[in-house]
Amino acid sequence: MNVWGGLSVDPKNGMVYFATGQPKNDFYRPGKEGSQLYGNCIVALNANTGQHAWHYQVIHRDLWDLDLPCAPILADFNYKGKPVPGVVQLTKTGNVFLFNRLTGELLSDVEERSVPPSTLLDEQAYPTQPYVRWPQPFSKQVVTRNDLTDRTPEAHADALARFEKADTGWYVPPTQKGVIYYGIHGGAEWSGGAYDPTTGNLYVNANELAWHITMIDINAKEKSAEAFAQHPGRRVYLEKGCVGCHGSERQGNGGIPALTSLSKKYKKPDVVQIVKNGRGAMPAFSQISEDEVQALAEFLLDMESQTAVKQSNQKPVYRAMNYTKFLDKENYPATKAPWGTLNAINLHTGELVWKKPLGEYPELTAKGIPVTGRENFGGCIVTKGGLVFIAATGDEKFRAFDKDTGELLWETTLPFGGYATPSTYVVHGKQYVVIAATGGGKLGTKTGDAYVAFALE
Ligand code: HEC
Repeated sequence: MNVWGGLSVDPKNGMVYFATGQPKNDFYRPGKEGSQLYGNCIVALNANTGQHAWHYQVIHRDLWDLDLPCAPILADFNYKGKPVPGVVQLTKTGNVFLFNRLTGELLSDVEERSVPPSTLLDEQAYPTQPYVRWPQPFSKQVVTRNDLTDRTPEAHADALARFEKADTGWYVPPTQKGVIYYGIHGGAEWSGGAYDPTTGNLYVNANELAWHITMIDINAKEKSAEAFAQHPGRRVYLEKGCVGCHGSERQGNGGIPALTSLSKKYKKPDVVQIVKNGRGAMPAFSQISEDEVQALAEFLLDMESQTAVKQSNQKPVYRAMNYTKFLDKENYPATKAPWGTLNAINLHTGELVWKKPLGEYPELTAKGIPVTGRENFGGCIVTKGGLVFIAATGDEKFRAFDKDTGELLWETTLPFGGYATPSTYVVHGKQYVVIAATGGGKLGTKTGDAYVAFALE
């Protein structure tokens, strides 16, 4: 398991906290029953000895790619009117888990609720998942018919048709029919939130768009025959999960490149190297056999295969066909706006103080559609002067909101998308905010390399 969000250290109490991602592979995990501890856990260790202090599992046997995205946030707040040394874990499904960070006592009101079983062979979904009754969630959790887009009648009809064919519901394990659910890109993301101890408000940016994950059995008779007839390397491509990121037709997806005309720039050893060593956000496939990687390279370079790859066993092996967002035909989310939000959650009361759309599509605003918010990656900060600063959106804007009301007070366009958390500092008595603006990433906007600083008057 990886730790996406890094560590949080409490030097005064000699503690260290982190939150884990989900166990591999994504979406299908045959084999033994059980919760797969320590996947999707917040863990507390004694910083001096490394000894385990406490842990809590937020999702049991995660089959949905709902890794805990961000570091735990150390925050002191009042619980039932009394101050506690707290720690907060945010999730991609919009939950707020509150703990006493010294004892590990769970302060959120959580109930273990039954969830549906897996329909895939040899897979045992865990029978229950934690349902948070308090605090209030900060993003949508289940896609319902009422949630489908009403942007245009055509977009609605198309979303409804796909919704009716798919499975939906709270923690429905991925199926061959396809499941539509919120959370792969958050809810909360790796940047977590910003806490204001003077008010007890926690500021969290969230994504509120759904995903459509469909499982295929790559050993199904007709499918594998087809894969083999096409190319032995295509089978490896499906089996090793390249398909999940690069797409069933190698078409790419968002920030993930298409693999359709690689022969223009690569020779076989180059592709073998990329696959074995990984690159950037692409993981290394060090366990792949020599035959498999050769066949794969031949397939990707559109060469005839010179390699025979043994067809493994005939049992079903499921893979997700594409990590696909649930979008309409014009590439807007096929659920109702807001699609990206900035939220203020009061930790003393567990209530949402305000929720505002974050980011816009200028062409929709121009048509008179209220600001929709949009997918965002990057965090916020809150200043003593009462401002919340955040970029994060694919419209390449940098914004300041009033921390008490959520009113948008200022915005400017960055040279490139600012998919990072801003920082603030003082020089000769003057306060500045600065943000790294590089574009690219999951939102795939134009790339560059800039730090942009602004003076606060
Ligand atoms: C988790 C998502 C993910 C998976 C799984 C994945 N890739 Fe990638 N791949 C990427 C990303 C992201 C890049 C771009 C990396 C960069 O250059 O920063 C990439 C780049 C590549 C490139 C270089 C493309 C170019 O134009 O330079 C090749 C070749 C490639 N992947 C092949 C594969 C193969 C083969 C597999 C399966 C064995 C695979 N990838 C699995 C995400 C993925």
